Amino acid sequence: MTTRRKLIAGNWKMNGLKADGLALAKGIADKLASASPNCDMLVCPPFTLVAPVAEAVAGSKLAVGGQDCHAKTSGAHTGDTSPAMLADLGCKYAIVGHSERRTDHAETDAVVKAKAAAALSAGLIAIVCIGETLAQRDAGQTIEVNRSQLNGSLPEGADAANTVIAYEPVWAIGTGRVATPAQAQEVHAAIRAELVKLVGAEQAGKMRILYGGSMKPDNAKELLALPDVDGGLIGGAALKVADFWAIAESC
Ligand code: 13P
Repeated sequence: MTTRRKLIAGNWKMNGLKADGLALAKGIADKLASASPNCDMLVCPPFTLVAPVAEAVAGSKLAVGGQDCHAKTSGAHTGDTSPAMLADLGCKYAIVGHSERRTDHAETDAVVKAKAAAALSAGLIAIVCIGETLAQRDAGQTIEVNRSQLNGSLPEGADAANTVIAYEPVWAIGTGRVATPAQAQEVHAAIRAELVKLVGAEQAGKMRILYGGSMKPDNAKELLALPDVDGGLIGGAALKVADFWAIAESC
């Protein structure tokens, strides 16, 4: 029996103005006040909404996180946000290395690792994202690519309490094309096996590995029932209270 408590995390990406973001976060926090799905819940709003959302849900069971963070605490980095700033607003988590950041901002494994290390230093839990492209899957490189990204992106001192892995096959993100349960389980198990080498069997056994990529209410139950799937990192379906809640309830 696994002792890993599932994490249902919403990555809002670049979506939401103040009114709808606040309504979404409050809608979930309100539901958590009267019901307890079998998981932890987290929302990661765009940076503009982190402060108002964190204030609005303070004291609730809904955690708040950033979608990215800088590797430094402060300094001359125009437009960036440090993990200390996120922690200061009440964030508990920071996503690092999302494939959209790796692509849009040319973030390498080394950059992701530095960001994850900074997140840990600020007392945040880092959600380290990895995942193969369709071309890499078609070339039979899925396991190798994920192993390599994991090795390159995992910060020193990572353990089950301060780090979460998110496996997000790039071809499944925002496409409606979800990984089959067999595909997801195969990669999650390979990631856990690699984690055994990186952080030891005990921490690897406790560390949460989330699946991300077109997770919806109608496919969540099957994915979340897989032995090595410990939650979801959800984009589109995290933008509606009912859908996000339905996913949490399927844990
Ligand atoms: P979708 O759920 O919209 O496919 O996005 C997944 C994702 O990238 C979460 O980080």
